[in-house]
Amino acid sequence: MKDQQLTSLLNQMTLEEKIAQLQQLAANFYEGAEEGGQITGPMASMGITDHMIENSGSVLGLSGAEQVIAVQEAHLRKNRLGIPLLMMADIVHGFKTIFPVPLAIGCSWDMERAELSAEIAAKEAAVSGVHVTFAPMADLVRDPRWGRVMESTGEDPYLNGRFARAFVRGFQGNELTGDVSRVAACVKHFAAYGLSEGGRDYNTVDLSERQLREYYLPAYRAALDEGAEMVMTSFNTIDGIPISGNVKLLRQLLREEWGFDGVLISDWGAVKELIPHGVAEDEAEAALKAIKASVDIEMMTECYVHQLPALVADGQVDESIIDEAVLRILKLKQRLGLFENPLRGADIEKEREVIFCDAHRTAARELAVKSCVLLKNDQVLPLATEQRIALIGPFANNGDILGPWSWLGSTEEASRLAPALEARAAAGKVTVAEGSGIESLTEEQWLEAKAVALEADVIVLALGEHSEMSGEAGSRSDIRLPEAQRELLARMKTLGKPIVVVLFNGRPLDLSGVIENADAILEAWFPGSEGGAAITSLLYGDENPSGRLTMSFPVSVGQIPVYYNHFNTGRPLHAPGADKRYVSQYLDIPNEPFLPFGFGLSYTTFSYSEPILSGVIMTKDQPIKVTVTVTNTGNVHGEEVVQLYIRDISGEVVRPMKELKDFVKISLSPGESKEVSFTLTEEQLRYYHSDLNFSSDPGQFKLFVGPNSQEVKERDFRLALEYVEYKRH
Ligand code: IFM
Repeated sequence: MKDQQLTSLLNQMTLEEKIAQLQQLAANFYEGAEEGGQITGPMASMGITDHMIENSGSVLGLSGAEQVIAVQEAHLRKNRLGIPLLMMADIVHGFKTIFPVPLAIGCSWDMERAELSAEIAAKEAAVSGVHVTFAPMADLVRDPRWGRVMESTGEDPYLNGRFARAFVRGFQGNELTGDVSRVAACVKHFAAYGLSEGGRDYNTVDLSERQLREYYLPAYRAALDEGAEMVMTSFNTIDGIPISGNVKLLRQLLREEWGFDGVLISDWGAVKELIPHGVAEDEAEAALKAIKASVDIEMMTECYVHQLPALVADGQVDESIIDEAVLRILKLKQRLGLFENPLRGADIEKEREVIFCDAHRTAARELAVKSCVLLKNDQVLPLATEQRIALIGPFANNGDILGPWSWLGSTEEASRLAPALEARAAAGKVTVAEGSGIESLTEEQWLEAKAVALEADVIVLALGEHSEMSGEAGSRSDIRLPEAQRELLARMKTLGKPIVVVLFNGRPLDLSGVIENADAILEAWFPGSEGGAAITSLLYGDENPSGRLTMSFPVSVGQIPVYYNHFNTGRPLHAPGADKRYVSQYLDIPNEPFLPFGFGLSYTTFSYSEPILSGVIMTKDQPIKVTVTVTNTGNVHGEEVVQLYIRDISGEVVRPMKELKDFVKISLSPGESKEVSFTLTEEQLRYYHSDLNFSSDPGQFKLFVGPNSQEVKERDFRLALEYVEYKRH
């Protein structure tokens, strides 16, 4: 359909028909849908009439080619103007082939594989009738109490931006109209949802505009620069204004300043939640605020359909605002080719071929291998084929390893650890016992596990959080492993055997109770459909762990938030000659995280040469080239993530102790050396000043190169500029 035809379609629509386009409903409202679609929020009674359903614009959480075709066809029979429905769903880290959770994907530092995971997710979703995915989640996260950290790629704005771009490329490809195997991406949750106070979901957020722009906005912006079609609002407030009614953030910043002209959708119920937030007295005021803020689609509450007709009639809302919103929705339908091909990719035959096929599972396994992080290894790993293994713990033979937001993944078909280890070890060398539940330990379980452990050379304990302990509404105040599992580990320790802990979880944990009792720890996160096979290949050294943390692990909950790119303070703890008492510190724990951003072990070791700089003066036209030689000093092949950080020694506002600016992932055979070069430019030194201008300051800088944010080699350089032209980002 051409643009002109879209305008003429809009002109034929009644006001009610237009407003109904702005309503998004879950699948169970539609004829042709089976019971039990994806319900990801509270279901309130909504007073939705048949007329509203017939004219509504989009469906939430419907998939399966047969169902989608039935619903779309039934809808087109009833819809007066033949406007097709948009099918939207949460395809976050896979459709049926489930990849590791995004926080784990972050730890791979592997943009190609991240992109491929999204491409595969899109392929499976598209053939199943989905048009739009509510992903990527680009929220920067610093508080592991928040259950949704597992949906983010971590605590760094630059790295999150790189991943956001990779995911958008994977979901959308180059061309949505012709390529029905791709889906439109909806970047979420705009904005700063990751800063929910105290890590409690849906809680207040408050931060300066400067902090917002510098840390929280870049990854959403990166997704939009990559062409993401849609944006979802977040549940939180900023500066006292809930986002779904926040004119400054949505209409002024997102639309006018950034020029975003795509569809903006509320999160589930977030328009009506303006009432309990306390900025709207009733549905009418909620609808008024949301439409003024330029929210196009209201997800799963009904303020728009009930209230906008009267608001237009009495002149509080100009019909042109409704028209703009409707046109954006129609344009998305047009870009997806739905007017010509309302069933788009939905194909019952192809579904069987494409979904959960071998190639997709292989990609999921490979990414799971790259996502696991080796946190400790006192010469226990890798395992030897002939060793007798006692595999114990609630995740020893458990399919609940897909993680939250994996609706269509099958825990039954997931690769579990027990069969995978049994298949890899020499015959009869693996004995399995449950050991404990996630949150309970019985004497019977202990006695069985003890007997199994006593016969083994090595104990592999598969421990963790069940998938409901993270994800949406999955906040925890105590982020240690549940007590029952810590107790199981402590008892196992008394048996005097080497212990390898494999962790399945959705957040950085407080590892107390684990670190002191385990000889090796492999952080497997929620590794997805192929988790068991991936972990097995790492435990036996068929693959070498190469994941690096993208979110710091705290010493304890009292240290949260703890992140690598913090400020120095006026009384830093480690300054030469610092006072012992009157410095910024805890009396009972260190300031540094237990495990820092960028950290991860390998079965080999790497050495770094001193970085060589092409010069020590940078100008706007003269970048600095940094070169370092990395050598594999161990006995096996391995991968290393070489990381480049900077510090601006004196800014107009205080600057972080380190900022990640670039990285390269390299692969080295034993004894092999590679030269790694980075080109650092003046642009990379820019930041938001107190007046929100984005520019760099001439003066002294440090650069750091190393395997993580703590173990670095540093050099000094100067930026020699009188004045740098800047523009707002
Ligand atoms: O996309 C999600 C969002 O992340 C949280 N609330 C529900 C939405 C739709 O399922």
